[in-house]
Amino acid sequence: MTTATKGGAGTAHTRVEGRDKVTGAARYAGEIPFADLAHGWLVLSTVARGRVRALDAEAVLAMPGVLTVLHHGNAPRVDTGFTGMMGVPPDPSTGLFQHDRVPHMGWPVALVVAETSEQAREAAEALVVHYEREPHDVAFSARRESEAYPLDGHVPAVMEKGDLEAELAASAVVVDAEYTTPEEHHNPMEPHAAAARWEGGRLEVVDSNQGTGWVAGELAHLFSLDPASVRVRSEHVGGGFGSKGTRAHQVAAVMAATVLQRPVRVVLTRRQMFSLAGHRSPTAQRVRLGADANGRLRALEHRSLNQTSTVHDFVEPSAAASRSMYAADAHHTASRLVKLDVPTPTWMRAPGEAPGSFALESALDELAERCGVDPIDLRIRNEPAVGPVSGLPFGGRNLVACFREGARRFGWAGRDPRPGLRREGRWLLGTGMAAASFPVMAMPSTASVTAETDGTFTVRINAADIGTGARTALTLVAADALEVPADRVRVRIGDSDLGPAMIAGGSAGTRSWGWAVTEAAEELRRSLAPGADIPPEGVTVRSDTSRALGALAQKERHSFGAQFAEVAVDPATGEVRVRRMLGIFAAGRIVNPLTARSQLVGGMAWGISMALHEEAVRDRASGGLYGADLAGYHVAAHADVPHIEADWVDDRDPDDPVGIKGIGEVGIVGAAAAVANAVWHATGVRHRDLPIRPDRVL
Ligand code: MOS
Repeated sequence: MTTATKGGAGTAHTRVEGRDKVTGAARYAGEIPFADLAHGWLVLSTVARGRVRALDAEAVLAMPGVLTVLHHGNAPRVDTGFTGMMGVPPDPSTGLFQHDRVPHMGWPVALVVAETSEQAREAAEALVVHYEREPHDVAFSARRESEAYPLDGHVPAVMEKGDLEAELAASAVVVDAEYTTPEEHHNPMEPHAAAARWEGGRLEVVDSNQGTGWVAGELAHLFSLDPASVRVRSEHVGGGFGSKGTRAHQVAAVMAATVLQRPVRVVLTRRQMFSLAGHRSPTAQRVRLGADANGRLRALEHRSLNQTSTVHDFVEPSAAASRSMYAADAHHTASRLVKLDVPTPTWMRAPGEAPGSFALESALDELAERCGVDPIDLRIRNEPAVGPVSGLPFGGRNLVACFREGARRFGWAGRDPRPGLRREGRWLLGTGMAAASFPVMAMPSTASVTAETDGTFTVRINAADIGTGARTALTLVAADALEVPADRVRVRIGDSDLGPAMIAGGSAGTRSWGWAVTEAAEELRRSLAPGADIPPEGVTVRSDTSRALGALAQKERHSFGAQFAEVAVDPATGEVRVRRMLGIFAAGRIVNPLTARSQLVGGMAWGISMALHEEAVRDRASGGLYGADLAGYHVAAHADVPHIEADWVDDRDPDDPVGIKGIGEVGIVGAAAAVANAVWHATGVRHRDLPIRPDRVL
């Protein structure tokens, strides 16, 4: 891969902060030095339901270095009754120490603050908490359907079109299958960490998050502060994946900094992240497909049961993805929730689409088998002209181009569809494919671009680079709009004082920010007379995309993709090895091919992990997880990830000034189904429960 230093969007470019990251010059929230810093350590409940009866705080207050112990009896009050910038209430764990109730294992019950991190940890581990235990229930299963209820999340819980039962009855072929995916956890490499201090009447929080404006706004609400008096910074972030919003650690740090009137940092441990960083709900899904003998769909039903906590409704909209993929005379999609004594789930990469596509795309493969139609042909036969349920036009739908290019590159032509026929020594070989999609959004953002006296330009936008390369992408976008080489542009991000902007989430960061940066940069370029003198403070143009986005035509906008996998299965040990994967995406204009490819390959590797490894197992007796760390929670390691190729077809969004759609999440979508379909092709056995562990293969 060659990298250009001057080229703009579309040219491969190494990260502008890459050198800082590999030399350690880039500092993360847990390591940025503060004068007089104290350290907080959270104490988490060891029961899954009940009340805190008493805490023996006196004993630990006498330990070396201990400054205070905060708990429900003495903590500052916070207000959680609001809707944050992303349109959802704050996570319930931000209502820290507000009552004595324990709603799940690993709920924060106290914060011990000490002079050093080691002293805080020692005291936190010594703190005796007395509980009044109540019976808990953490047993998620499809059998809980009778207790479940629908709830609209960011998409409606239930959507119906046509007469499902009539179309199923009239179908020549019906596939009716149930699928399950387990509780899964996103554990970014960099743990959640925040340092808070009061500085000249302002609250300053140095954090690791996906949007400083989002967190600053929520902290202002929580502590009833003037939003202008809260500043959150998050310059470098070692991964987020949906887990890095406002959570217990920032609130704990702010509480302690307020009580002690000195800077306090709280860092979550890897184990604490398993109850405080959110997770992906397990799902129990049922898909019913009815088709004519040639595979044309008459009926598509997708129902998903998901869990939430007893203290907050969170919906993993697993069935929603089925509303956009395939034409059918009748559609019925529904996501339902059951409340259990578990931590509140949250967005985890491709929320809804990741587990939903496993069920839908596996069922499509079953239908292809039953109809004797090639899986790609089956999908093309059911390609919709407009949104299958919405009736809206598509804002670009190049899925078929992905299938064709993917089939060509993967060598799909001439594939013998019969399962269990290919052997290589002890290995059974098979190939499989699946489709991918993820919605495309743009959210209002503001940006400013300044022409400096030395001929360089400074872009200021409150974007978050959670490791994706967003800072670099925005550098290229700005360079294009300014018509200057990229090395004349510097980009400042990750600071709520930079103004309102979209978070790094929903695959919509680069699109939303790129839009605002382009507007400001183009206006600046037009306003600068060639050779004109720049005053010492520079010339600055600001943009705000709220109005432009309001005028966007109503369309179904998605990024799409085609996933292909080849697996080898050892029927004697149950071992599944993915041998190669190919993903071809139609995900809008690709700003930086180097980091975009990494982003897509990362999603696909995560899909392998989802297919074969990841599974958080809840112990029904204690209500906690077995092995809540990266040793017990298996993720795909290097040896599990073969050669993965990700590429794309030309797919500019004509409604976006840069042509961007979004690549953040689509890479994981469909990947697990492609692997599962390949395992069927290798063995003749359908695996409808993830992960496909050796004991399930045997
Ligand atoms: Mo993504 S799950 O919106 O960070």
